[in-house]
Amino acid sequence: QEGSTFIVLANRLPVDSYTDTDGTVKWRRSPGGLVTALEPMLKKREGAWIGWAGGTKKPPEPFKQEGMKIVPIELNQSDVEEYYEGFSNATLWPLYHDAMVTPTFDRSWWNKYVEVNQRFANAAAEEAAEGSTVFIQDYQLQLVPKMLRELRPDVRIGFFLHIPFPPKELFSQLPWRKRIVEGLLGADLIGFQVKGAARNFLDLTRDFLGLSPTEKSVVAEDGRTVQVDDYPISISSNTYDELARSSEVEKLIHKYLTDIGGNRRVILGVDRLDYTKGIDRRLKAYRELLADGVLDPEEVVLVQVAPPSRERVESYAKMREKIEREVGGINGEFGRLGYPAVDYIPRSLNRTELAALFRIADIMMVTPIRDGMNLVCKEYVASRIHCDGNLILSEFAGAAQELKDAWLCNPHDINGMKEVVKAAWDAPEDEQKRRMSSMRDHVFEYDIDRWANDILEALGID
Ligand code: G6P
Repeated sequence: QEGSTFIVLANRLPVDSYTDTDGTVKWRRSPGGLVTALEPMLKKREGAWIGWAGGTKKPPEPFKQEGMKIVPIELNQSDVEEYYEGFSNATLWPLYHDAMVTPTFDRSWWNKYVEVNQRFANAAAEEAAEGSTVFIQDYQLQLVPKMLRELRPDVRIGFFLHIPFPPKELFSQLPWRKRIVEGLLGADLIGFQVKGAARNFLDLTRDFLGLSPTEKSVVAEDGRTVQVDDYPISISSNTYDELARSSEVEKLIHKYLTDIGGNRRVILGVDRLDYTKGIDRRLKAYRELLADGVLDPEEVVLVQVAPPSRERVESYAKMREKIEREVGGINGEFGRLGYPAVDYIPRSLNRTELAALFRIADIMMVTPIRDGMNLVCKEYVASRIHCDGNLILSEFAGAAQELKDAWLCNPHDINGMKEVVKAAWDAPEDEQKRRMSSMRDHVFEYDIDRWANDILEALGID
């Protein structure tokens, strides 16, 4: 049979290139949860993944990697600046995250977004076998469903948005709002992280297109029924649980505890360095707890892992400076030689290192101002093999709809956040266990395989 019958379309490919010792460029799978979840389907169906390899070098021709076909999309310098850094990450990203940074509305960025979305749609149209299924990911590709349907009315199209979908009051700012709603409606199924996001979208189909949505679907202008529902994404919980029990992790735990020294307890933050993550507020609350004498720098360390992200976008560079200034200030005031009050790690760690940190953290702080889901908090829960520990979680993360037994907080409320840290710090063991075991039950039942099964079943493939 010609072509693939299951195709994933995402801005990024699930592989990274590296240069081997003999100087040749090779590819290896990047450790994403999404690709792991979709892998069985990709293998079963001669699947293909279409996406960008990062960078602006001319990418290789399509190739096979661990049973799936990799189809690289080329982006040149201006594509990266206007489609990726510009419209995706300086217009849509802030707009969809409560406009906490002012979105830039730039017409040439929009034109490039249209152009690159068309490039993705063309590549999918070319790759898809008759009657196949194409599963499109995230905010970078919202116009692709409609574009693809025009080229290939025979394929079944699914779309999943990994980030929040804003209410009308915010979305209305977008000069191209109608085009985005129409673009998405090209799909047969549109999935969101939480119910509120699905509702926001359905309301827009009424307000901007005059359609009559029901609770979980809407009939588009061409008479097709488009299903709209929430599918909260998750992690491979068993993988984290097993990793957390492994001997490599045990060894690292021993090393980390020796490095940290004495009997200091660990508070942990792990976030891509993004202004939506609330790292600055978290540091502020922590600094005040030290200054008030509620936390003693001899007894605590805040380990903050923060791999830099989208560094050429100005708001990211500014946030990085702000965070690093604050870390320096806290350490200047409260650190001792060899014993920083904040152990700041501005790079990405591998999964074994993360699992070891999750295991030694008495408190994990996940305090975004807005987050579509947040998977780090689920990873922490899955790694707490002794069923203790304290998850402090922002009400504004999608995950808060599920992990109701976390210590919930409002990251705008510094005093409230301080109180929650204090309560978690003092939490008796039985309370920790009650909360953690209930969250573990949830995370093991609703893992990434469950998500993939549910959404692929709704898309009509198995
Ligand atoms: C979020 C988005 C993803 C994106 C990831 C990393 O999770 O939902 O679509 O891939 O951030 O960001 P980057 O811009 O580096 O791909």
